[in-house]
Amino acid sequence: MSLDRIRLASLHSKVMSAELAADMIEDGMTVGMSGFTRAGEAKAVPQALAIKALTTPMKITLMTGASLGNDLDKQMTEAGMLARRMPFQVDSTLRKAINDGKVMFIDQHLSETVEQLRNHQLRMPDVAVIEAVAITEHGHIVPTTSVGNSASFAIFAQKVIIEINLGQNPNLEGLHDIYIPSYRPTRTPVPLVKVDDRIGSTAIPIDPAKIVAIVFTNKTDSPSTVTEPDSDTQAIANHLVAFLEQEVLDGRLPKNLGPLQAGIGNIANSVMTGLIASSFENLTMYSEVLQDSTFDLIDAGKLDFASGSSITLSERRNKDVFGNLDKYKNKLVLRPQEISNHPELVRRLGIIAVNTALEFDLYGNINSTHVCGTRMMNGIGGSGDFARNAHLAIFVTKSIAKAGSISSVVPMVSHVDHTEHDVDILVTEQGLADLRGLAPRERAIQVINHCVHPSYREALLDYYNRACEKGGHTPHLLAEALSWHQRLDETGSMLIN
Ligand code: COA
Repeated sequence: MSLDRIRLASLHSKVMSAELAADMIEDGMTVGMSGFTRAGEAKAVPQALAIKALTTPMKITLMTGASLGNDLDKQMTEAGMLARRMPFQVDSTLRKAINDGKVMFIDQHLSETVEQLRNHQLRMPDVAVIEAVAITEHGHIVPTTSVGNSASFAIFAQKVIIEINLGQNPNLEGLHDIYIPSYRPTRTPVPLVKVDDRIGSTAIPIDPAKIVAIVFTNKTDSPSTVTEPDSDTQAIANHLVAFLEQEVLDGRLPKNLGPLQAGIGNIANSVMTGLIASSFENLTMYSEVLQDSTFDLIDAGKLDFASGSSITLSERRNKDVFGNLDKYKNKLVLRPQEISNHPELVRRLGIIAVNTALEFDLYGNINSTHVCGTRMMNGIGGSGDFARNAHLAIFVTKSIAKAGSISSVVPMVSHVDHTEHDVDILVTEQGLADLRGLAPRERAIQVINHCVHPSYREALLDYYNRACEKGGHTPHLLAEALSWHQRLDETGSMLIN
């Protein structure tokens, strides 16, 4: 135990076991926990709670920043303790429980959860459980590898439980910038005009009297699950880089492009890695998750500064980034997710947003979340916060999934997360469709010519031609629009025959 991490001595008496701290969480409570894309989640208390719930049945509403690591969502789901869960998840056990209707999942724009709490549209957390590297002399909380929603959860909750993680590098202190917007209707603009601006404090300011328990842990974050780039993601990156180079040549983008945002997952990470071989220099990021690609770009001398809400790394990258934090610290800042994803800032900074679609349609509508329109994958995450307000809203995906039995380019998406009005550029390994300033019929031609896989191209063109015969501003054959999904459901493939 390292009491020097608790710099307000009057809090030393609050140290206890995770089991005793978990006893403070009761059936029916709303709990806000730290954690954003498998980084910086509270680890010991949720695990102790899941074990307790196996013998003492309970149900809670659980709010986090985004997804949790260390199989915590799995353990809490298996213990049957999650009544409601928001705003994002990536766990396969929880996903199944959500799709079976056993856990009520509220899939939210990541910038919105604490805004809705602040305005009493959601029930305030009874308890916040926050991972920290230290507690300051004033009893303020220094987060670890993510900020997420931790600051507002701790500020709003009646009771705060802190997990001091001795496995996290204490040098993380100083990396965070905690800014909390003021209340409406007298709110002032968020005073951030450059990606590297610091506008808040390095710790979460709370009344230390609310801290009811402090637990020591040393469990590390789970490594990210991103895979190495493959030929398809490389092709997507190549199309995108060629497009951005042309934008610079045409004078529509500066030479360093403007701040970049990259969504979670293999494809967006690979696309960002693809920028290493580009001619761009002095890049910056204003994103939410800083993945391996962020640090690969810094090491390549391409990226000057990255602002995010969490750092989520593979095993390979984890040691050399957190083991050499001094090398990166002056190039990084971690912010609350309502600031990293703030629509006001996304619009002001002119962000180039690159997010991944599950599928998109002829007219540029995007489905990021629902397989065949019904089964939740992960959630919308921050993609809507960024896409709706970006300088360029770019969506990438491989043109086919599951060995070609699924086309990611379909006549009509089976669920809409981002409407045609919010989407500028679509990219698959086949090519890039620039939809800016085009009417629906013009967009459809771009999508068919540049994005769809050859094995589905003829069928999509045939659908479009027959829809045009019927007419309409956005031509469709309603009885057929979702027939590709229906065929997938019935035969296991969208391919005819
Ligand atoms: N229909 C069904 N499944 C599909 C599909 C489609 N049209 N397209 C892809 N998939 C499957 C893949 O086969 C893969 O399945 P597997 O895990 O069983 O292998 C899975 O979806 C992930 O696809 P992958 O190609 O590895 O891409 P990814 O890791 O980049 O994830 C998303 C893609 C869309 C699931 C992911 O980016 C996401 O959840 N996005 C929404 C949230 C978001 O955009 N956040 C950004 C800010 S955080």
